Amino acid sequence: MAIPTEAQVTAALRAVDSGSHGSSGGGLDVVARGWVKGLAVKDGHVTFALEVPPRLGPELEPVRAAAEKAVRALPGVTGVTAVLTAQAEKPQAQPPRRERLELPTVAHIVAVASGKGGVGKSTTAANLAVALARKGLKVAIFDADVYGPSVPRLFGLSGQKPKSDGAKVFPLEAHGVKVMSIGFMIAEDNPIVWRGPMVMGALEQMLRDVAWGDIDVMVVDMPPGTGDTQLTMSQRVPLAGAVIVSTPQDIALLDARKGLNMFRKVEVPILGLIENMSYYVCPNCGHRDEIFAHGGAQRAAKEMGVPFLGEIPLELKIRTTSDEGTPIVASEPDGAHTRSFMDIAGRLWETLSAGKRRAPSISMGVPKK
Ligand SMILES: Nc1ncnc2c1ncn2[C@@H]1O[C@H](COP(=O)(O)OP(=O)(O)OP(=O)(O)O)[C@@H](O)[C@H]1O
Ligand SMILES: [Mg+2]
Repeated sequence: MAIPTEAQVTAALRAVDSGSHGSSGGGLDVVARGWVKGLAVKDGHVTFALEVPPRLGPELEPVRAAAEKAVRALPGVTGVTAVLTAQAEKPQAQPPRRERLELPTVAHIVAVASGKGGVGKSTTAANLAVALARKGLKVAIFDADVYGPSVPRLFGLSGQKPKSDGAKVFPLEAHGVKVMSIGFMIAEDNPIVWRGPMVMGALEQMLRDVAWGDIDVMVVDMPPGTGDTQLTMSQRVPLAGAVIVSTPQDIALLDARKGLNMFRKVEVPILGLIENMSYYVCPNCGHRDEIFAHGGAQRAAKEMGVPFLGEIPLELKIRTTSDEGTPIVASEPDGAHTRSFMDIAGRLWETLSAGKRRAPSISMGVPKK
């Protein structure tokens, strides 16, 4: 009898639901979750691991058993070894860094950053978070911009206060995303003058004291530039990587490269580059205007050896929907711009779930062989 291929085994595993820890709406299978690792078929014997968030391990035995049963049912399979492993046990999963905060219930933390201000980081972070949630993932957005938090406004939560039980703070929720921001703690018209150590302390405390629950992807909205927040987040938080947002002009002005090089120096993988305000489509005639020689980010990404995740046009509705507290991915679920964000979110999740961590391509801090 023919022995099934790895592709056929993977296809069978796609029918195995990841359980109540899957999407909030259910339905994410173990392959889509990126749990299946080390799949091998040898003489009809199939071996694989389900690599799951450590906290979930013991509860996922029924899912493991279901996966084993699904594979065993394939014609030509003589035996199955299916094991549960915890993601944190994989030593190569974390690049060497200083002692870091433990966030065991959060699978992937992604910083959305840029070299300079005003390029659309917060807008992109918000829409990506909603897009990932619409894909059925458990998503949080963490506003790391203590100087100018914009996440409360983007999610229509300005002026609200998260609840606390004295020990933990419970994140607010909007558009299917758990939301936390320093903006909930301080008056918007009473900005604090933050000194470096205060920034570090505030960020760490917010991350540590929040009852995040199980999260597949935490999107972090970073402040502009390369200051204390970037340092804290890259050294103290187990980042899966950074996404760099740039506009055609700042690519031309090399600002985006500054942001990118900073993360490389601290050995945070660059998950990809997004070009925002890439081109303009006239709402009346549909004419597409390339205001600032668009496409630079794609070229720059290629030059720098990082993935290009996609482009977002300059579009009034992207701004107005954000200002109204319902980012375009939530307010126009079938719109063309939403599709762009959904595609970018899809590429990002593919990279994250495949556990691809790009080694920094510069040699700084990497021991020589
Ligand atoms: N694609 C877009 N089309 C139209 N307007 C946009 C787009 N992206 C962002 N904007 C608008 O540009 C302004 C700046 O965007 P945003 O606040 O997201 O940038 P930022 O990089 O987070 O800024 P900061 O560096 O201050 O944190 C906002 O008014 C936002 O609504
Ligand atoms: Mg911002």
